[in-house]
Amino acid sequence: MPEPESAPLLLIPGPTPVPQSVLEALARPTESHSSPATAAALRQIQSGLLEAVGGAGPEHLALVLAGSGTLGLEAALTNLLRPGETLLVVNHGYFGDRFADVGRALGAEVVEVSCPWGEQVDPQRVEEALRESGAQVMTVTHVDTATGVVAPFADYAEIARQRGATMVLDSVAGAGGMPVGMADLGIDVVVTASQKALGAPPGLALLAISPAALERRRAIGRAQSYFLDWMRWEPPMRDPSGRYFATLPTNLVAAAAVALQLAGSEGWEVRFARHRRMGRSVRQALRALGLGPLAREEVSSATVTAFAVPEGVTPAALRTEVAREGVAIAGGLAAWSTSAGRIGHMGAAGLPELLRGVAALEAALARLGQEVEPGRGVSALLASWGPDPA
Ligand SMILES: Cc1ncc(COP(=O)(O)O)c(C=O)c1O
Repeated sequence: MPEPESAPLLLIPGPTPVPQSVLEALARPTESHSSPATAAALRQIQSGLLEAVGGAGPEHLALVLAGSGTLGLEAALTNLLRPGETLLVVNHGYFGDRFADVGRALGAEVVEVSCPWGEQVDPQRVEEALRESGAQVMTVTHVDTATGVVAPFADYAEIARQRGATMVLDSVAGAGGMPVGMADLGIDVVVTASQKALGAPPGLALLAISPAALERRRAIGRAQSYFLDWMRWEPPMRDPSGRYFATLPTNLVAAAAVALQLAGSEGWEVRFARHRRMGRSVRQALRALGLGPLAREEVSSATVTAFAVPEGVTPAALRTEVAREGVAIAGGLAAWSTSAGRIGHMGAAGLPELLRGVAALEAALARLGQEVEPGRGVSALLASWGPDPA
């Protein structure tokens, strides 16, 4: 079999395929961090981010930091919690555990309300946990990337609003591919990262911060970090050409600006519909191949799917065989590492990429001795690729 000549097609849950025009922006001559071009790129990222998450209004602060999504989670909690304060983590999977770990690292009293992997936490339990714990801050994972389950975060946001708690939403695996409705729901902070549904390379953590969250930041006095302190970043973020705090990776900023511009010009609602269609069709294809999705359809994300690997096949073997076809998929995380695989369907991916991915899965399963009628997965993908599933 010939070696694939190009880099593998990334159908992992991030990083995702990056459009050529975005890659070309990375290769342009490096700009100063305070140049007009960098300021314009930052503004493009900021307005794109706020549109993507529905964080309307100039009072919202859009923060662009050099780092990954995890840094974004830490940048949120470090500005919202004093040591000893209570953090409620609504935990429906791997990245809920991460939020709890970040909270503990910052000296917070962490209370968790959890559910088995593959399920959602019942909003009523969130209400009880918030009431009983008296937590000042509550975190929610929009899409848990380990399970592909989306949280009923609108219900949680209403509960947080009623109890006066500050809500932080980890939308690292949602923003740009799924609606958030930040301002309408009164969500205080939305955290995301460049490398998933926004279709940019990895390296930027993005935060949309509401005026209420900024107020809480001011009220707590001192942040627990120098570099991550929102107060230090606010002036250069509001006036990128005039103020300096720390140097941003300007090539990456230029590239992410192109990615956000491309995403915005697709139209956010159209983009969300494309992701819904991708999610639905990939899951149909997986079912046809005997790789059953591990979450119920009603709670499944538009951006990533975790699926069961058939008996006699290991996730590692499946990944290896799929990789021989030039496609990267992911294995399961933690408790699901020996039984599940994961496929990302977000960002710039579309029908051609998914056809390639499903065909690679078919070929891999056949090589691993599974009985797969040729074209079965691809047919199922195409059969369900239709009008927006809304
Ligand atoms: C939901 C979610 N939160 C946080 C993270 C952490 O992001 P990063 O790996 O960029 O630090 C990820 C990464 O996959 C994620 O999917």
